[in-house]
Amino acid sequence: MQGCDASVLLDGSATGPGEKEAPPNLTLRPSAFKAVNDIRDRLEKACGPVVSCSDILALAARDSVVVSGGPEYKVPLGRRDSAHFASREDVLSGLPPPSSPVPALLDNLAKINLDAADLVALSGGHTIGLAHCTSFEGRLFPRQDPAMKVSFARHLRRTCPAVGTDRRTVNDIRTPNIFDNMYYVNLVNREGLFVSDQDLFANETTRPLVAKFAADQSAFFDQFAVSMLKMGQISVLTGSQGQIRQNCSARNSGTVAGHLPWSVLEAADRFVPY
Ligand code: HEM
Repeated sequence: MQGCDASVLLDGSATGPGEKEAPPNLTLRPSAFKAVNDIRDRLEKACGPVVSCSDILALAARDSVVVSGGPEYKVPLGRRDSAHFASREDVLSGLPPPSSPVPALLDNLAKINLDAADLVALSGGHTIGLAHCTSFEGRLFPRQDPAMKVSFARHLRRTCPAVGTDRRTVNDIRTPNIFDNMYYVNLVNREGLFVSDQDLFANETTRPLVAKFAADQSAFFDQFAVSMLKMGQISVLTGSQGQIRQNCSARNSGTVAGHLPWSVLEAADRFVPY
């Protein structure tokens, strides 16, 4: 929320629960927050307090994609970190639930200048990772979503036999740990996990892109890189805005911008308009 400013990493404070404590973010993994803080500590030791948590997040996302087999792309740097997290209301209105059909997703993304190609390519992030039963059980109970292949529903019920089961399954049934285009092959075969996934193949605006990415992995990789760059530049803080957090989970003590030892102003012109 609020742009690419690492606000999701902040713990709650006296003013209320943090962005990470808002319902849609409760499934974010504690181990991921720890990994970002560990990277921040190492950078502090090696370089001093000069690398922001938001730049770390953008680079870590890119590197996770690369080590899983996906495309490599250059990340513009020079973001600074927000000193404020988004409210629960902002998170709830800004993050579409996985039960959203495509028109709702497109409306939502249009507010941040992302289009149908961005939606289809970025949803391809679901080629890796895990999801809790509660994120898709509405497609299994009380009755099975007819858009879902029967054998896939049967498979999912083995992990999620009843409403409220606290277990996880893979996002991509074909190649769960590889960043490839099998996510789109799943959609063509009606084996997408969320409504927000499967509807990309049902909707006539997004269906041709799904078909294209299912047939052509390079086309997916190219668009994914473009869309990640676009998303990673939404409402970034640069120059003297925000701060470079010393601990990614808490804003720096003292005033917000204040006496920072170093500014990344010179890197700001590396942000390219789109
Ligand atoms: C279209 C809007 C999106 C919706 C509705 C959505 C929804 C979800 C949901 C519900 C989960 C499972 C959470 C859980 O139950 O643990 C999930 C996981 C995941 N999503 Fe998305 N997502 C969206 C966009 C994205 C984008 C843009 C990316 C990255 C480019 C992405 C990457 C992932 C990854 C990697 C996981 C696995 C996380 C893990 O293993 O813990 N998603 N998403």
